[in-house]
Amino acid sequence: MIHIPHSRPCFGADYQHAVRHVLQSNIVAQGSETQRLEHDIQQHLGCTSVLAVDSGTSALMLAIRGLGQHKTGLRVGIPTYACASLLFAVKAAGAEPVFIDCNAQLGLEEKQTQAIAQTLDMLVLVHPFGGVEPLAAGSFPCFVIEDIAQSVGATLDGKAVGSFGDVTIGSLYATKPWGGAYGGFIASNNADLLQLCADMSDPDQADINNVYAGHHQLSDIHASLARQRIQDATQTMAQRQLWAEKYDALIAQTSATPIQNPSNTTSNDFRYIVRNQQPVDTIIPKLQALNIMATRPIQRPLHHSNSSITCAQADHAWQHCISLPLLSDMSPIEFQHLQQGIQQCFPS
Ligand SMILES: Cc1ncc(COP(=O)(O)O)c(C=O)c1O
Repeated sequence: MIHIPHSRPCFGADYQHAVRHVLQSNIVAQGSETQRLEHDIQQHLGCTSVLAVDSGTSALMLAIRGLGQHKTGLRVGIPTYACASLLFAVKAAGAEPVFIDCNAQLGLEEKQTQAIAQTLDMLVLVHPFGGVEPLAAGSFPCFVIEDIAQSVGATLDGKAVGSFGDVTIGSLYATKPWGGAYGGFIASNNADLLQLCADMSDPDQADINNVYAGHHQLSDIHASLARQRIQDATQTMAQRQLWAEKYDALIAQTSATPIQNPSNTTSNDFRYIVRNQQPVDTIIPKLQALNIMATRPIQRPLHHSNSSITCAQADHAWQHCISLPLLSDMSPIEFQHLQQGIQQCFPS
């Protein structure tokens, strides 16, 4: 029976070889593979320092703690239409989350962002769902943390995302474009900041007067998987791009509209998101009954954690946007099944 998962990372023989190599070295915790991974990421992003850590959530929490050192009452702006990890990272850093509404492209609403930024210590600019947050090219009166967890390989004005902010964080979780199994990274040209984050990532080395330290190192096993995924990332992105063009033609026959990328950007096509006139809870169950594991792009808008805040555009997107499975290794039979499912479940 055909079953189309929302994500399907592929780990071939090269991955098994890479993990076996680490096991045979007898060094499975942090070692040379992690250092090589940091070097690989540094080359891709063109920055001077990278620290590999255990998750993207830890990466963001550590970056906030590092940038906010010596300050209390930190206010950190985050998009409300985003992954729940952002909210948990801000809270884990002891900071106050400030929610910012989205626009029709699921990026940040520009005027609101500029106004709120005046009151912030840090602003997290998430490049959303494989696309680009154009505000990354702007300037802000607070620190900017770029989040490229979903969008590594995308570009803004010809420059790689992750090369605009004061610091960049990313995820190496299995389903992400650079995913090994678990992991994350912090990248910056500020070596002192990364040293602070490294100190907080290793309680055995940290000064016992530190406000915070936890075990956030990445293991060499996870690093070896992520290195392999980074090597394959350009090819898998190209495969997804070909499928995305076919999806465009399919969706054009329905009343749904794909989320468009701004013209000065290129996407990595990590996710294929469409906006429907009908609420998604009428469409997703129908697709899932056909074993097409479409889902909402986010679990829930983050401002729902505070009942006194409204963000109308994020609420609309939550009710009306669907993420369709876009698998780099989709077979023609799977595509045909998806095509039939879309024709059947989306109003024309
Ligand atoms: C945009 C974004 N940032 C950060 C994270 C957190 O990454 P991790 O799952 O590695 O903790 C995620 C996870 O889904 C994400 O989508």
